[in-house]
Amino acid sequence: MNAALAISIVVAGALSLLAPLRGAPLQDAPQPPAAPAAAAAAEEGDTPLMVEMEKIEQAEQFLRRSIGDAAQDAESLKQVAIAQQAILASKLMAPKMVTNVPEADRPKFLAEYRKSMASLLIEFTHLEQALLDGDRAAAKLAYKKLHAMEETGHNDFTDGG
Ligand code: HEM
Repeated sequence: MNAALAISIVVAGALSLLAPLRGAPLQDAPQPPAAPAAAAAAEEGDTPLMVEMEKIEQAEQFLRRSIGDAAQDAESLKQVAIAQQAILASKLMAPKMVTNVPEADRPKFLAEYRKSMASLLIEFTHLEQALLDGDRAAAKLAYKKLHAMEETGHNDFTDGG
């Protein structure tokens, strides 16, 4: 083997050792954002009552836009039924705030809670009757009343108000 050949073999060997480094990423490629863990965790932490309340909320939001529109009465009536079913479930549950109420006051607190739920059910039922009668003014009035009950209900039966 002559000297030139020996040198070229050594250089080629050295280059092949370096080959894996060529084109190596300077840093890892950016990863896609993680799944929205916070939102999932919040839902997991929901009480069964919150789950029912969220159904009422969705129905209420639909009704806010649909109530003045006779063409949407069939869907409005479906949303009323969803809310009524959620209220039937809710009235049999206890607000989590009950644990902060002195034991002696709990029966009264729970009775008041149930009466408020019953009033909410009645107002949704007034809304139902108004929609079935095609009485737009009565439907709007019932909506206004049940909307106001949300605030008083939360003031009286949640710690957050
Ligand atoms: C249209 C009327 C109402 C709507 C749309 C509504 C909606 C909601 C929503 C969305 C939540 C969940 C809040 C969260 O995720 O942190 C909630 C919670 C709650 N609501 Fe209502 N609500 C209404 C009426 C009422 C009434 C009348 C009462 C009481 C009689 C009530 C009692 C509660 C309680 C106690 C909680 C907390 C859940 C728990 O303690 O586990 N709500 N409501």
